[in-house]
Amino acid sequence: NWSMEDFIDLQIAKIRETVGDDKVLLGLSGGVDSSVVGVLLHEAIGDQLTCIFVDHGLLRKNEAQLVMDSLAGKFGLNIIKVDAQQRFLDKLAGVTDPEKKRKIIGNEFIQVFNDEAIKLKGVKWLAQGTLYTDVIESGTDTAQTIKSHHNVGGLPEDMVFKLIEPLNTLFKDEIRELGEKLNMPHELVWRQPFPGPGLGIRVIGEITEDKLEIVRESDAILREVIAQRGLDQEIWQYFTVLPGIKSVGVMGDGRTYDYTVGIRAVTSIDGMTADFAQIPWDVLQEISVRIVNEVDHVNRIVYDITSKPPSTIEWE
Ligand code: XMP
Repeated sequence: NWSMEDFIDLQIAKIRETVGDDKVLLGLSGGVDSSVVGVLLHEAIGDQLTCIFVDHGLLRKNEAQLVMDSLAGKFGLNIIKVDAQQRFLDKLAGVTDPEKKRKIIGNEFIQVFNDEAIKLKGVKWLAQGTLYTDVIESGTDTAQTIKSHHNVGGLPEDMVFKLIEPLNTLFKDEIRELGEKLNMPHELVWRQPFPGPGLGIRVIGEITEDKLEIVRESDAILREVIAQRGLDQEIWQYFTVLPGIKSVGVMGDGRTYDYTVGIRAVTSIDGMTADFAQIPWDVLQEISVRIVNEVDHVNRIVYDITSKPPSTIEWE
């Protein structure tokens, strides 16, 4: 009978045998998959592993801090954190088309990663948190081409790494189980899915620092309330979006003309189809009141009541 302990022991032995004394590089995204790979590899080969964590400025509130505190701090992984916020903002200035935004973010991510990787000497292996489902999906050209994903592949031809993908036989729930067994923090192991382009596809249209701030702060409030109400495990994914429209409101004695924030929350098994989550009204009310009160330049909250299909989960 297959157990997670056996898997860990086997993988650690296999990783050691595969890489020997070689150095291994890993791109950390802050998501579950790459974090679990990072901790597993660190268990196996310690300081032979170097991680690059690109902060593209499109992460959720406190996300970079959480990754650094737990993975570098508690687990002792060797992480190079690259602060590339301005680089991404510059590249994205004036761009409104969703697919263009995705491509720019994906390409820039690879550029930044490579710029750092080139500085490291003698790295032979590139580790990736590829899951079994990624392997299947990249092999087909149907579902995933609806929106261009950039998790698999895309390495430059002049950098020849050998690939190591220790999770590529596992499903998502098994990755979480593995993370638990490796004593990783609950917050990291149970995080909801988060797209590679991050908040960049939740600011609809042109991305600016001000708009990112609104999405980041409102999303943090949404997550806080959902967690406080104990709904974080039953809602598959939940986040805020900034459609970019302004509308008229009234606050105190004055008229306001400010942004609308959308709340998206879905239940799903695998993200391929989804239903909008039936969050209780009083929870929505609390979220709405808090966002309007606490986030500047927001005077209206709407709740997305479409399922997938016909909508997608993300708005871009
Ligand atoms: P959609 O919006 O296509 O999203 O219904 C389905 C799931 O995929 C996530 N998503 C992405 N994940 N890179 C990713 O790693 C991406 O470019 C990307 N686009 C969407 C989305 O958050 C949802 O969980």
